[in-house]
Amino acid sequence: MANDSNALKIGVIGLGVMGQRMLERLQGHARLRADWVWDANPAALAATLARFPGLRAAASAESLIFSPGLHSLYIATPPAAHLQLSELGFDAGLAVFCEKPLTVDFADARRSIQRIESEGQRAAVNFALASSPGLALLQSRFGAPAGADRGGLARIDLELGFAQWPRPWQAAAGLWLGERAEGGFSREVLSHFIFAAQRVLGPAQVLTQHVVYPVEGQGSELSLNAELRIGGVPLRIQGQVGGSEADLNHMAWQASSGRIDLREWFSRIEDTGAASEASGNDPIERRQHGQLSQLDQWVALIEGRPHALPGFAEALAVQETIEALLQPSV
Ligand SMILES: NC(=O)c1ccc[n+]([C@@H]2O[C@H](COP(=O)([O-])OP(=O)(O)OC[C@H]3O[C@@H](n4cnc5c(N)ncnc54)[C@H](O)[C@@H]3O)[C@@H](O)[C@H]2O)c1
Repeated sequence: MANDSNALKIGVIGLGVMGQRMLERLQGHARLRADWVWDANPAALAATLARFPGLRAAASAESLIFSPGLHSLYIATPPAAHLQLSELGFDAGLAVFCEKPLTVDFADARRSIQRIESEGQRAAVNFALASSPGLALLQSRFGAPAGADRGGLARIDLELGFAQWPRPWQAAAGLWLGERAEGGFSREVLSHFIFAAQRVLGPAQVLTQHVVYPVEGQGSELSLNAELRIGGVPLRIQGQVGGSEADLNHMAWQASSGRIDLREWFSRIEDTGAASEASGNDPIERRQHGQLSQLDQWVALIEGRPHALPGFAEALAVQETIEALLQPSV
């Protein structure tokens, strides 16, 4: 771990699939330094220390959060612990960067949002598309104020498909990911695209939804079909577990000026409305650009500067749409 005086020290709680990914991304960043780590599972903590020997293991979540010299708390636990750990982070005066989904406890989320606003706390939620060039393109084309033309936007279609749920790369994650209480592809994946659409167009309204759950009653959704209205246009969602593609996501924004197709987490973009082919059209480059930009936004959050990361209120608005979509069909 570098010990330069300019470094911003990060404490990481939750060292599963996403915690590991973030630790990898943090390596080599110019300003952010992972420092203290903690996980409720001692095996996850030990494996992390073996993999990243410069890190320090805390004795508990509380001792990590109140470690002297820490600047920010990154929370990558399953959703149930997000708000409680965030609140402790605020108590300690830390900038809190929390994984999505924020929570399914809306009353608690509202209390937290009120606290953030009244105390001027620094808080953001990790919807990585917030820092993507694809979202910037959508905003520039369709993000005009409500009532304006919005580039002739006519409709949005979103298709999601997963040969298996959880996906193979999540095999090491906890059981929660495949359970109805906290997991499922709508909270895990669809939420990112609802975030993107709501960031550009404002709140979505669910008009119709049909969700299929396994008959055993515990497992997360098998399919979701829904029609929403957002920014005055229809948004149609078709998502399912099954099919041949491991991780299909395709969002199409149809407008009178042309059509923008975004695939593979907005890393592949076809823009028929563009006057010329966009430069820097390499998907790997786009992903890297988005990830670096996200870390730079995190620095801005810590330093109290303007940034593009979604706050807790924006993340709650996403979750309200997701939970409305997940209501059992009658
Ligand atoms: N932004 C993204 O692109 C993205 C991608 C994957 C996961 N996620 C989110 O990240 C979070 C974690 O997902 P994951 O796939 O890493 O899950 P995971 O099950 O792989 O890991 C969660 C870890 O948290 C630990 N943990 C559970 N409760 C805890 C607590 N109260 N205190 C401390 N540690 C605790 C577990 O022991 C486990 O090691 C979820 O909210 C998930 O939705 C976000």
